[in-house]
Amino acid sequence: MGTQFRWSFFMYAAAMALIVLSLSHSSMVVSGAYYKKIQVVLYNMLEPGKNLHVHCKSKDDDLGDHVIGYYQNYTWSFHDNLFSSTLFWCRMDWTRTGGSTVSGSFEIYHAKRDLYRCSSFCAWGIREDGLFVFNRDTGEWDYFFGWPSNSKGAGMKP
Ligand SMILES: *[C@@H]1O[C@H](CO)[C@@H](O)[C@H](O)[C@H]1NC(C)=O
Repeated sequence: MGTQFRWSFFMYAAAMALIVLSLSHSSMVVSGAYYKKIQVVLYNMLEPGKNLHVHCKSKDDDLGDHVIGYYQNYTWSFHDNLFSSTLFWCRMDWTRTGGSTVSGSFEIYHAKRDLYRCSSFCAWGIREDGLFVFNRDTGEWDYFFGWPSNSKGAGMKP
């Protein structure tokens, strides 16, 4: 009798564990809809012959120094996290004709700002008159930041 009881208790516990597991699994699938892959593109639209130096980081990733030639793209992809708190910022500089260096630090991807705006593709045109974002609805580049940075978003390092 005692063995019988322990066995059915074991079966009950196993069944409960299965139910809990399958519930947590299905909620992972639901939130998985927001856990999507996002590609960021930085497009050097300065002047012919001008390189753009970039160094992008998030809390978890340091993408290192990169040099983007004129009309070249630099791109990376990542998965947004479950809380849409993903934030990448980039330090950029280039040299004006005449020799002075222009630089700035910009919040390039912030899920709360960009998840809907960019969907899965976030393109930036880096021009001498500022940083422009590609607008999917109009097909135009919209002015977003001026040089030097006027963006001091959360998590921004000087
Ligand atoms: C760079 O990216 C921009 C914006 O997405 C695109 O219009 C352009 O064709 C790309 N250029 C190259 C060389 O891949």
